[in-house]
Amino acid sequence: MSEHATDAELVDKARAVRERAYAPYSGFPVGAALLGRSGAVYAACNVENAAYPLTICAERAAVAKAVSEGERSFEAIAVVTSTGASPCGACRQVLYEFGGPKGDLRVIIADLEGNVQTYTISELLPVGFTPHQLA
Ligand code: THU
Repeated sequence: MSEHATDAELVDKARAVRERAYAPYSGFPVGAALLGRSGAVYAACNVENAAYPLTICAERAAVAKAVSEGERSFEAIAVVTSTGASPCGACRQVLYEFGGPKGDLRVIIADLEGNVQTYTISELLPVGFTPHQLA
């Protein structure tokens, strides 16, 4: 991959993978497309379960997919829902872990009408818990 995906391309990939969401209980499909610093894009959807709390959010599924493929640092993630919802607190913390030392991972939040809002992970999770605080 020579050129990294644009924000618009990430939103397109997130919208596409949202179609694969397994969300029979909430009826709220979510798609996420995570851009690694290598240029690879990891797309994932939410996966629910009859035991409701076992649900995996799309953003965390994308991180698990990427880390499993050997990538640990990321430039941006696009998240697409019908309402332009922003990532839950748990996902913010997981993204913060891999969002770079300055917390400058871009979080691109989009709905299905093309409305887009972009934040950094530090804006979404100010003063987050970092691995350094374990030392
Ligand atoms: N969900 C996500 O995939 N990401 C979030 O950041 C918030 C919520 C999913 C979980 C559940 O399957 C559905 O959206 C409704 O909460």
